[in-house]
Amino acid sequence: MEEKIDHFKHKSKTYSKDSKRVQNVQTIAKGIMDKINYSKQMHIMDFGSGTGLLSIHIAPHVQKITAVDNSPSMNETLHQNKDMIKCDLDIIEADLEVASLEQNFDGIISSMTLHHIKDIENIFHKFYTLLEKDGTLAIADLYTEDGSFHSDNAGVHHFGFEEEFLLQCAKKAGFEDISCQEVSVAKKPHKEFSIFLLTARK
Ligand SMILES: C[S@@+](CC[C@H](N)C(=O)[O-])C[C@H]1O[C@@H](n2cnc3c(N)ncnc32)[C@H](O)[C@@H]1O
Repeated sequence: MEEKIDHFKHKSKTYSKDSKRVQNVQTIAKGIMDKINYSKQMHIMDFGSGTGLLSIHIAPHVQKITAVDNSPSMNETLHQNKDMIKCDLDIIEADLEVASLEQNFDGIISSMTLHHIKDIENIFHKFYTLLEKDGTLAIADLYTEDGSFHSDNAGVHHFGFEEEFLLQCAKKAGFEDISCQEVSVAKKPHKEFSIFLLTARK
């Protein structure tokens, strides 16, 4: 059996302490809320939830968040910080590339996770099947970069994405009202990296 590697084991304790990272995700969250109306009846999935940096901002606007992440160490840190998530919270340890979930969601949110996913077409299909009718998708990640965003590219399957490719994947999966634009800029000492937000509706 293939051994599972926790690529975030060495990062999980300090992940939320990087102020530039926190700021980037906060800007992404604002961009998501500018485009999508959430309500206190909604159950949302945060895909690749990590330590909960995105969920923190969406939580006050929804009933429940199911945080899905395959990293035991990131999930443990989220569990320790769970009081910061101001809605009902479920944490599911699962690799969404292979796992199937026995529930549907009113919305899916995700930040900075898509580049860790091998098969992008497949994950868009999965998002589609996991959503209720009229459910919303909001995915933010890197536009195409030169490979210097991460100091170590272990677990990185894509050096960002071309907008056209993402639009095609969303369309092929069956989504409607698809749009994509820059939502934030991630600042690193050596360079700035442009971040997109793709939104769509089932
Ligand atoms: C760069 S972190 C982003 C965390 C958080 N969304 C944020 O913006 O701070 C990417 C997260 O995606 C998770 N992840 C990567 N591949 C995954 C998969 N196949 N299924 C579930 N989670 C995954 C990682 O464990 C990690 O916690």
